[in-house]
Amino acid sequence: MGRKLLLEHIHVPGINTLAVYREKGGYRAVEKALKTMSPEDVVEEVKKSGLRGRGGAGFPTGMKWSFLAKPEGVPRYLVCNGDESEPGTFKDRYLMNNIPHALIEGMIVSSYALGANTSYIYIRGEMMPQIRIIENAIQEAKAAGWLGKNILGTGYDLEIYVQPGGGAYICGEETALLESLEGKRGNPRIKPPFPAVAGLYGCPTVVNNVESIAATVPIVNDGGEEYAKIGIERSTGTKLISASGNLVKPGVYEIEMGLPVEEFIFSDEYCGGIANGKRLKAVVAGGSSVPILPANLITKTINGNPRLMTYESLADGGFVSGTAMGSGGFIAFDEDQCIVRNTWNYTRFYRHESCGQCSPCREGTGWMEKLLYKIESGNGSLADIDLLWDIQRRIEGNTICPLGDAAAWPVAAAIRHFRDEFEWHILNPGESQQRNYGLAHYADPLEPVTQ
Ligand SMILES: Cc1cc2nc3c(=O)[nH]c(=O)nc-3n(C[C@H](O)[C@H](O)[C@H](O)COP(=O)(O)O)c2cc1C
Ligand code: SF4
Repeated sequence: MGRKLLLEHIHVPGINTLAVYREKGGYRAVEKALKTMSPEDVVEEVKKSGLRGRGGAGFPTGMKWSFLAKPEGVPRYLVCNGDESEPGTFKDRYLMNNIPHALIEGMIVSSYALGANTSYIYIRGEMMPQIRIIENAIQEAKAAGWLGKNILGTGYDLEIYVQPGGGAYICGEETALLESLEGKRGNPRIKPPFPAVAGLYGCPTVVNNVESIAATVPIVNDGGEEYAKIGIERSTGTKLISASGNLVKPGVYEIEMGLPVEEFIFSDEYCGGIANGKRLKAVVAGGSSVPILPANLITKTINGNPRLMTYESLADGGFVSGTAMGSGGFIAFDEDQCIVRNTWNYTRFYRHESCGQCSPCREGTGWMEKLLYKIESGNGSLADIDLLWDIQRRIEGNTICPLGDAAAWPVAAAIRHFRDEFEWHILNPGESQQRNYGLAHYADPLEPVTQ
């Protein structure tokens, strides 16, 4: 059994309450940090832990914290990113739903480390249950003296506020999130300046994912070196993976970094294999933005070793034969799934969610969606595949924020690995049209689906 640092007590009745969370050792990290460590000590432990951001980009958390500007007389902010809108990703809401105090405790030690006296938790607006749960947990913690003025008599003050998200995927991008938190439309900002210098209300700000913040609790409790003993290379600690698709046991799993991908998919401890006795066809390993890989590449052997659930191993082969850990949204496709249809579906999402500031993203996502629909519905030509390839290449790297890349990569990977399926749709228009029973009513991709 792999070690569990975040979900160890997930099945304990009442673990969502402060009383039971405390019984299981909760808030020890706050006592330890505030009473025995300086803010710099906490930053140092997080650096030693090797923790990397769990929101998608995998940037080292301790390093990000050390970039925070500290001008005299200017407030600093910690903003927790709980927007979680990436298709296939549902781990943060699971944590907030079941062990809300793990996030509140992480917020307190992280805010202390950064010298923030006001912090925010930005939660996707559609996730009302989680918003209420976190608000209740804040009230409970405050009533018990873990938040507010002079916490534990240490002289440290902290208030945490919850902000419901603006209702768009782009509000999860950190600068769009800050705009939205300031009450504006969630459009990404041009960087630099980075939030560490000019973030919320122009003040130095750290934006971290829910899971990254919760992970600071075991790091403070056990020490950064202990945390770094779990995992391999620059992938340390544990990772929450939300597994979905054609799996026997979809769900949220906490894995030790370094678990072989094949073991994650097929062992009974985790996903239990592919549902209905079918064969694995492909995997999207880290949320819809990362390149899809066919079964033989996701389970391939690298220098005599199996591919592992680490940042490095998943990326082995670059985007030619590798992928990325991303946000840990692991989607498995069985042999009956249509990759073209799936790519069209993702692209439709990105077209809808593009904020429209950059032409390559605004125009390119719409164009790709139309072409994919054309091919999927049996009306495409072979030249459309090359056009699609060309469009995605012109989006990648040419936009203000990474949503453009996120829209381009799935299309590139689908063509790279499953070109034969695109060709099949084009060369078998009759069969292709018949298979598209669910799309019969869907005349124009720009019209909303009414069914
Ligand atoms: C379009 C887009 C959506 C994003 N959505 C999220 C999200 O829902 N949650 C999240 O933590 N990070 C999201 N990110 C990444 C954030 O910009 C940022 O890197 C992250 O919150 C930093 O936290 P971390 O260092 O702890 O990972 C998104 C990025 C992009 C480009
Ligand atoms: S890449 Fe897309 S979502 Fe990001 S700023 Fe440009 S138009 Fe907006």
